[in-house]
This record gives sequence, structure tokens and C-alpha cells, in this order.
Amino acid sequence: MASILMVAGEGLPFIKTGGLADVIGSLPKALTERGHEVKVVMPLYKKISDKYYNELHFDCEYSVSINYHEVPVRVFSKVVDNVCFFFIQHQGYFERDSLYGYQDDGERFGYFQKAVIEMLNQLNYWPNIIHCHDWHTGMIPCMVKETHDADPRYRAIRFVYTIHNMAYQGNFGPEMLDSCLGLPYYLLDNGNVRFDGGISFMKSGILYADKVTTVSPTYAQEILSPQYGEHLEAVLNMRKYDLWGIVNGIDTDIWNPATDKLLASKYDAESAIKNKKANKKALQESLGLDVDEHKMVIGLISRLTNQKGLDLVNDVIPGIMDEHTQVVVLGTGDSQYENTFRYYENKYKGNFCAYIAYNENVAHNIYAGCDALLVPSRFEPCGLTQLISMRYGAVPIVRETGGLKDTVQPYNAFENTGNGFTFDRYESGLLYDAINRAKTLYFENRVYWDDMVVRDMNKDVSWEQSAKQYKDMYVELTPRY
Ligand code: ADP
Ligand code: GLC
Repeated sequence: MASILMVAGEGLPFIKTGGLADVIGSLPKALTERGHEVKVVMPLYKKISDKYYNELHFDCEYSVSINYHEVPVRVFSKVVDNVCFFFIQHQGYFERDSLYGYQDDGERFGYFQKAVIEMLNQLNYWPNIIHCHDWHTGMIPCMVKETHDADPRYRAIRFVYTIHNMAYQGNFGPEMLDSCLGLPYYLLDNGNVRFDGGISFMKSGILYADKVTTVSPTYAQEILSPQYGEHLEAVLNMRKYDLWGIVNGIDTDIWNPATDKLLASKYDAESAIKNKKANKKALQESLGLDVDEHKMVIGLISRLTNQKGLDLVNDVIPGIMDEHTQVVVLGTGDSQYENTFRYYENKYKGNFCAYIAYNENVAHNIYAGCDALLVPSRFEPCGLTQLISMRYGAVPIVRETGGLKDTVQPYNAFENTGNGFTFDRYESGLLYDAINRAKTLYFENRVYWDDMVVRDMNKDVSWEQSAKQYKDMYVELTPRY
């Protein structure tokens, strides 16, 4: 079995801003359970340091050159569920309030990647595969291949680069190529890392990795087109024979309504129809909504960004709000969306809740207490909220894009099959129609609705199938292990 080092900007149980953290918290665990040796490395952010510092093991210290100065690195680690998590410590770069969004992000993650590469040497730890995730790690295959090729220990490593979101590419000025990353300027001339006059971590990852993956088969297709490729479609087309789409799973231990301590009433597929009522009541009470088990509660749990289809949601709210319907929004992000949802909360008092925050406990209670969950994304590489909602028996209403298309089979009234309600083009009229189809089934044919709830809860949303696909890919890369 191959040994794998996953490199990422965030990961549970330590830190999370989005679905990437869920994947880093659950995929290594799933692969470890299937016999691989998987380790993870990420920056030691302030929040991690504040909470875990006393539990961390000190591994080593060294320095890397950034802007022609030696900058110190300290490496710590902690084992969770048999997966060793390494942390790269540099207080100035990482012990800040947020994870990303700083003017010096290029330098911060340039430093991180250099520190990870040297960590292998310092610890004398030589994984067969380095599996990089998203732009924060996209330079690693390039840096190893361009600057460490003479060393057989580095040369033996194979690289996987997983794209979780084409919209975040890590594009920076050309000057950092040499000063920060220690790479030769001819990489700009030959186009390998050049993007829009500067350099792109994402482009470099796509070109230099041995395999490129993204988090669903449909998104793997979509990003080959200008509509979804975010100006890198030509580069992706160059690698399309090495591009795999592997859909994400979720950690079914954490997301398990039968054992979830945060719920008012635990339930499994058999007891869902009865017990979800208690969770709905608890949700309505805790969020200040009118308590009424007969109302249909529609949830939305999301980063409030342009990606997530919130302009469509805003368009349809006035049309879907009636005395039988409640809407609960949990999210933070762009103030324009936050304020619109606050406006609706005020307008539809007792039936609309805008919970503008990041709150995991509330998220669990919404998945358990609502009847349906909206995911009308403009684009969605995989999407985890529809997977979690199915696991909790909340019927997803999704746009047919990316992983949403791959994981939610549309309801078929004639055969009584499917997992949710779907629409194709990015139009508010179509979202409105999908919600109305859901409402019609909910209010007029509850038996069939309940069948769908049970079907959703029985659907396999674990890593079982996808871990096998990653394993096949690792085997293809390292046949001798
Ligand atoms: P993305 O990574 O694009 O944000 P995903 O659907 O892949 O979207 O993952 C989102 C994850 O973050 C899910 O686990 C979801 O439950 C969680 N999440 C999103 N917003 C919030 C929030 N405001 N509070 C708690 N959890 C949230
Ligand atoms: C990104 C995508 C999301 C995906 C997640 C984990 O944040 O937006 O669709 O589920 O990564 O792969």
C-alpha cells in the first residue's frame, strides 16, 4: 500500500472554513481504514494553536529561504484516528485571525509549501505520493520537480493535485517566483506557471502533478469549458486524460442522526418520520419561528457567496413564503446577501430565520429539523450540504451542476424513485418551479415524500466508493507498492 502525504490549507477536526476541511478530516481517515498510511500537513493557525498547543508533539525545526532570508520553521504533530497531522508553525505568517485573504497570501503559502518540502528531509520521511489540495499547495509538484530532481528520494515521489474549486486559483505577481519560491524565471517564459502577467499556483499544480483530480465527474467535465474553467480550461484540456472526477463522501460517524448528541431526538431511517418532528419543533423554538409541525421547513446552509446561487434564492423568497412554509438560512459571507436575508427575516417574522453566523451546532439542528434543503449553486465542484441533508432525511433541492448532479437523482413521480428535486438552467423561475414541486409532494402526497426521506437516509454518502477510486489511482501511480 502506498504511503501518502496530504497537503492542505485546512482540515477537521482542527480548523474549517469550507468543505475542503471536511474532506481533509474524513478522506485520510477512510484511506487509513483501508490500509494506506496517510499523513496530513497544514499551517498552524492561531485557532489551532490556541486550542491544541499543549497537545502537540514537537517534531523538528529548520529554516527555509524566503526573500533571500532564512526564515525559521517549526513542525508539530498530533495523531487523530490513526492519522498523523503535521503543523507548520510560523507565528507571523499563520497566527492571525483568519486563514486566508491577506495581501501576503502568496508569500505565506509559498513559505508553507517550501517548509513542507524540506520537512520530508528533516524528518527523513519519504511518502510515495504527495497529494496536494487546492491552490495553497499547487506549487509543490513544480518546486520538487524543478529544484529537487537530482535527489532520488524526491524524484521517486508522485504527485496528485485535487481541485476543490476553480474559482480560487492563487494568482500572484511574477516577482515571487524567484524571491519566494526559489524557482527560475524561465518558467514564466515557457508558460508553465504564467497566468495573466503573474504566476498561478493552480495552473502550476494542474501542469506538474502526475494526476489531477476534482471532486465530481460532472465538474471534471464542466471545467474543460470556458463557462466553468475560470480561464484555465485550455490548461485543463491539456491534462484531460489524467483528470479524474471522484465525488466526495462525508464522515458518516460525525454526520449520523442515530448518534448525534446535538439533536433533540436521535433517529435512523426507520424512526425518522416520527422523530424528525421533535427536531423540527426544537429548531423552530430555538430560532424563534412559529412552532407548528405542519409547516414545511426549508433550510439553506452555505457560505454566502456568488457561487451558491443566492441571487436566485432572493428572487424566489417572496413567491414561496406562505402560511405553510418556513425558511431557515445559516451562513456568513457577502454583506449584500446577509442584509437581504435579514430583511426577509424582518418581513416574514416567525416564518423566516436569517442566522448570520458560522455555527456547527446550529447546522446539525437544521439538517435534522428541516424538511428540505436548498443548494441552487451557480457551480458546485461537489457540495457536501446535499450529502449531509440526505443522511439526515432532509430532501435536497439542487441545481444540476457539478457534484449536485452526480449525487442527487431527480424525483420521478411515476416510479417513486429519486432523492430530491432538481433544475437545470441557472434561472430563478426554474428554482421556483423546483421548490413548488417539492411543496406539492410534501403537502399533497406525504406518503411518497416520506418514502423519499427514507430513501435518502439509506443512500450511501460515505467514502466507501470514492476511497476505492482514490486507491485505484494511487496504485496506478505507484504500481510497485
Ligand atoms: P463549500 O466548501 O463550497 O463551502 P460544501 O458544501 O462543500 O461547500 O461544504 C460546506 C461545509 O460547511 C458543510 O459541511 C456545511 O455544513 C458547512 N457550513 C457552511 N456554512 C456553514 C455555517 N454558516 N455554519 C456551519 N456550517 C457551515
Ligand atoms: C469546495 C467546493 C465544494 C466542495 C468542497 C470540498 O469548497 O466549493 O463544492 O464540496 O470544496 O471538495
